[in-house]
Amino acid sequence: MLKALPESRRLDTATIELDPPFAVADLDAFHRNAADLVRRAAGRPVRVATKSVRCRELLRRTLTTPGFAGLMCYSLAEALWLHGDGLSEDVLVAYPTADRGALRQLVARPTAAAAITIMVDSVEHLDLVDAAVGTRRPEIRVCLDIDASWRPLPAMHIGTRRSPVHTAADARRLAEAVVRRAGFRLAGLMAYEGQIAGLGDAPPGSPLRGAGVRWMQRRSAAELAGRRAEIVTAIRELAELEFVNGGGTGSIETTTAESAVTEVAAGSGLVGPTLFDAYRSFRPEPALLFALPVVHRPGGRVATVFGGGYIASGPVGADRAPTPYLPTGLKLTAVEGAGEVQTPVAGHAARRLRLGDRVWFRHAKAGELAERFNEYHLVDGDRVADSVPTYRGEGRSFG
Ligand SMILES: Cc1ncc(COP(=O)(O)O)c(C=O)c1O
Repeated sequence: MLKALPESRRLDTATIELDPPFAVADLDAFHRNAADLVRRAAGRPVRVATKSVRCRELLRRTLTTPGFAGLMCYSLAEALWLHGDGLSEDVLVAYPTADRGALRQLVARPTAAAAITIMVDSVEHLDLVDAAVGTRRPEIRVCLDIDASWRPLPAMHIGTRRSPVHTAADARRLAEAVVRRAGFRLAGLMAYEGQIAGLGDAPPGSPLRGAGVRWMQRRSAAELAGRRAEIVTAIRELAELEFVNGGGTGSIETTTAESAVTEVAAGSGLVGPTLFDAYRSFRPEPALLFALPVVHRPGGRVATVFGGGYIASGPVGADRAPTPYLPTGLKLTAVEGAGEVQTPVAGHAARRLRLGDRVWFRHAKAGELAERFNEYHLVDGDRVADSVPTYRGEGRSFG
């Protein structure tokens, strides 16, 4: 019977007691998304990218899903907090840290030092650690960040700008420096192919661009498979790697096709933000939504809601704005977009909206909504099963 309810009725019914603005996580969609990531990973463990969730309860639920293993944190302070809370004993911090206070805490807590792996891409990172916490301390686990971009021509760089370590020779040099140096343990490798994992291959309304993206991604995946295998072979001669991490939500199939990779990372696929509608081979369900109340009816086909200007990070463009989701047929206006405290939505459906009615929205990215709301209300079918704090709701902001 529940299934027969239209989506907006179900959500409105479940949250009838709540006053918008508020945000919900739809548990059925979230768990189905989690299961789909595991299916796509075809036996390779999935490390959950915390930046795309930013809510401890949702992270906990993800980690209890068979097929997920370990956290990929975005800050060392965050990793210390989550580890201290007992969430995981396998915590990779995927972005290098310059936080001396957090490094001091890491070495002051031997159990944390044994569980948390920090990211390095150069000897300077090792120097920074030694300058912060000295050399008489517990061993620090490190992971080498390998540049997974595609460089088809000398001046061309397709992918993220992160690590300077690109070739097997670069990687070997850095690995040698790590294993020679007291106080560090080389635990793993990570290479994130953002040009595949984070770039939709079927951008709406741009079939030609889509064809170009798919061509690039095929070439890039083939190049990376060869280079990653070479790098892993070279490093395994120097150290016993515990893991080789790669990929993200958009690249699970190509990343797990490589035998050199032992695990994939993913987070956005749990949430299903609008940027992840633009892939051909998978489609996460929208699991995170926010509701805003109608506060003006300026007339005709327009209603104006309170709040809304939650713009996603990345290159500025219309695809970074939130999208009106329910009732269907509404869009933002070109003149105002998603506003600082008020957002007009236009379309036929606006005629039926009354003051206090909700308009449901989706964010463009997965994790950033948690920086706007203190709580996520967990919707289970047609009721709110629980209300849990986001990182922000716990007073935690990691940048
Ligand atoms: C290092 C790393 N791994 C994996 C991911 C993939 O995360 P998601 O699945 O949320 O897109 C990202 C995203 O930026 C990343 O930076």
